[in-house]
Amino acid sequence: MGGVSTAAAAAAAALVVLVVAGLLGPATANVGDKCSTSADCGAGQWCFDCDPEFKGSHCVRSAATNPFKLVNSSLPFNKYAYLTTHNSFAIVGEPSHTGIPRITFDNQEDTVTDQLNNGVRALMLDTYDFKGDVWLCHSSGGKCNDFTAFEPALDTFKEIEAFLAANPSEIVTLILEDYVNAPNGLTNVFNASGLQKYWFPVSKMPQNGQDWPLVSDMVTSNQRLVVFTSMRSKQATEGIAYQWNFMVENNYGDDGMDAGKCSNRAESAPLNDKTKSLVLMNYFPSVPVKLTACLQHSNSVSDMVNTCYGAAGNRWANFLAVDYYKRSDGGGVFQSTDLLNGKLLCGCQDVNACPKGSTVVCSA
Ligand SMILES: *[C@@H]1O[C@H](CO)[C@@H](O)[C@H](O)[C@H]1NC(C)=O
Ligand SMILES: *[C@@H]1O[C@H](CO)[C@@H](O)[C@H](O)[C@H]1NC(C)=O
Repeated sequence: MGGVSTAAAAAAAALVVLVVAGLLGPATANVGDKCSTSADCGAGQWCFDCDPEFKGSHCVRSAATNPFKLVNSSLPFNKYAYLTTHNSFAIVGEPSHTGIPRITFDNQEDTVTDQLNNGVRALMLDTYDFKGDVWLCHSSGGKCNDFTAFEPALDTFKEIEAFLAANPSEIVTLILEDYVNAPNGLTNVFNASGLQKYWFPVSKMPQNGQDWPLVSDMVTSNQRLVVFTSMRSKQATEGIAYQWNFMVENNYGDDGMDAGKCSNRAESAPLNDKTKSLVLMNYFPSVPVKLTACLQHSNSVSDMVNTCYGAAGNRWANFLAVDYYKRSDGGGVFQSTDLLNGKLLCGCQDVNACPKGSTVVCSA
């Protein structure tokens, strides 16, 4: 009897130790576990209910894997994939900065700072002349309105500057849908925000499909801000790279979500034009819809990643651009980015299978 009670006491003591360790240690929930708040979930996860597709709150991923840290940063910039937010500035709940209530769509649900801290590494921003300044805005016809304006570009650029200052090994890419006609309008904001000092010059971008400089060299030279504009003339006038000199890109909106099809948007060269070293894959509907984002990120995005690989002449996308990037029933677009980095870096289905710093590759 004494033996049994000793064993029971030991088991009880062990249980107490486990419970205390569990309470004191970080949450260790797995993706897919039930939760009631994000505090129940592990690092890089949040608690989300993908209703109506998958009912009930579960821990799902909210952060990207960092391939520079997980594998290494000694490869060219175009050998990595970067999670990209479409209309990164069009954030639910952003207060009106014009005094007029906003009547337009939103595309994201957390701040640009949060997006960057969660591993987003490319931001799609729409820049407009407005109120004698440059603003981030949703509009048509290239004209920003009080009721479609989000915020002055300077505010967002300062957030990006703070991230680059605090994360000296990271590179951020800006892809501007650019309606700024004011001479040096954008350059003034890059200067005023403190971003100019991180500028990666057009002269170092490959013109004919060669590899980009190594990430490690871009970090060493502190040229960690890569900027593309949709306005061709600015490459000559302001030294801002014209996006489609360097990148191919598939259709955006509903045309980019047609299963089995991946073809270039009008401004881009054909996707298999290998004189452009970077490949961008858009995957968001013409009108952003929160309820369907979860399903799209949980299922069909990875099929399209493979479709676009073929369409781009067997090249994996470097940029995966989405709305509501954190919505999924599990791995979501973070898993798709891990797939892209796995393929790009070591031929594996998941970057987490790439050996750290190693040259070992998965077999085909
Ligand atoms: C931006 O700053 C650089 C260097 O500080 C300067 O040479 C350039 O003239 C500035 N551009 C504008 C438009 O203010
Ligand atoms: C970095 O990782 C890649 C992919 O596995 C590999 O090809 C390359 O040789 C590695 N470089 C160094 C310096 O380890």
